[in-house]
Amino acid sequence: MIKNVGIIGGGTMGSGIAQVAATAGCMVTLYDVHQGALDTAKANLEKITNRLVDKARMTPQEKDAIQNNIRYVNTIKELANSDLTIEAIVENMEVKKKLFQELENHVSDTCIIATNTSSLSIASIASCLKKPNRCIGIHFFNPAPLMKLVEVIPAIQTSQKVLDTVQITLENWRKVVAVAKDTPGFIVNRVARPFYGEALRMYEEGVADFATIDHALKSVGGFKMGPFELMDFIGNDVNYTVTHTVFEAFYNDPRYKPSFTQKRFAEAGFLGRKSGKGFYDYAPGAVTPLPETNQKLLHTIFDRILVMLINEAADALFLNIASAQDIDAAMTTGVNYPKGLLAWADEKGIPWCVKKLDGLYNEYHEPRYRCSPLLRRMDATNKTFF
Ligand code: NAI
Repeated sequence: MIKNVGIIGGGTMGSGIAQVAATAGCMVTLYDVHQGALDTAKANLEKITNRLVDKARMTPQEKDAIQNNIRYVNTIKELANSDLTIEAIVENMEVKKKLFQELENHVSDTCIIATNTSSLSIASIASCLKKPNRCIGIHFFNPAPLMKLVEVIPAIQTSQKVLDTVQITLENWRKVVAVAKDTPGFIVNRVARPFYGEALRMYEEGVADFATIDHALKSVGGFKMGPFELMDFIGNDVNYTVTHTVFEAFYNDPRYKPSFTQKRFAEAGFLGRKSGKGFYDYAPGAVTPLPETNQKLLHTIFDRILVMLINEAADALFLNIASAQDIDAAMTTGVNYPKGLLAWADEKGIPWCVKKLDGLYNEYHEPRYRCSPLLRRMDATNKTFF
């Protein structure tokens, strides 16, 4: 039973995770080297919980209980009585390893040591510990209190007991847990790549403009945001870096090849909403471009992105990155897709998926469009995912 939770790093993710654990009734110790970060975390939580009280989504007593459950500290030794620690400091392997080695000198032998890393190898982080079997990845999504999904990533060193305890704890925190293999991008950051990559590729080919591609995904697919709107929201610098990291981590698999269009937008400082201009212009009074409404074109665009996403999800299942249920839950609760991709494949029909992918492969002769062997086998044996 996890009662005392230590959070390391009080920035965007750490402060959100602290709120989640404190709301679930855990005693949280939030540690950061910068007093300023702690002060900001405390003030932000006060603002967020006040708003929830104003909207009658929380009582004033519940609000006080949450803030009272969190201690804000600037020395690592204050984490001594933690049952579980979750690290959310800078995304740098050496800095994380140094912290973990120091942390292990302060916590008990049974304390679980987790990292919120989005891109680093859990096995590598665990290897710096005297007891690597206590290390695990617990990957929250931003904003942690609102996003239901948490990816849990056991390293090859992680004990089953640690995995079980973490799963139960996160379920008690009312999160949807998807267990993923310790591979680049885990589930969401891997399976979602074609949403951006194939949209950029179609734009580069001149199939359609940003507004039309976005409109296709929203009007035909039911996505809340189109790929270009979403890239502008995430930031072209951040989104490009994730793609580039995944591409390199997969030894330059062409399926994850980053786009020059996005690279140039990032280089130009057209980062998206945060810089006032990205694929769209966010200046006051800027005119929103109108999409084309030719239904055949919109369906062609949507089908191509969907089938590439399905292929990625099927391949993740084929390579045992996660279960079919967890892959679908990850995409609907981590990035709010309107349907799970494997359920979508069943709905469209596996033969349809294989035919579409083979059509793309035959047209381009690029390995990017290779059909997952799993889809091909399922097609040959008339199987469905669910
Ligand atoms: P952030 O920059 O907002 O916060 C990091 C905090 O860690 C800062 O307050 C900093 O003072 C503190 N810090 C740095 N070194 C420290 C140390 N040695 N000891 C104690 N505190 C230290 O970063 P953010 O965005 O919260 O990311 C944290 C981690 O979570 C990274 O590994 C990131 O990849 C991962 N992540 C980030 C997501 C996001 O959307 N921002 C989503 C999921 C994971």
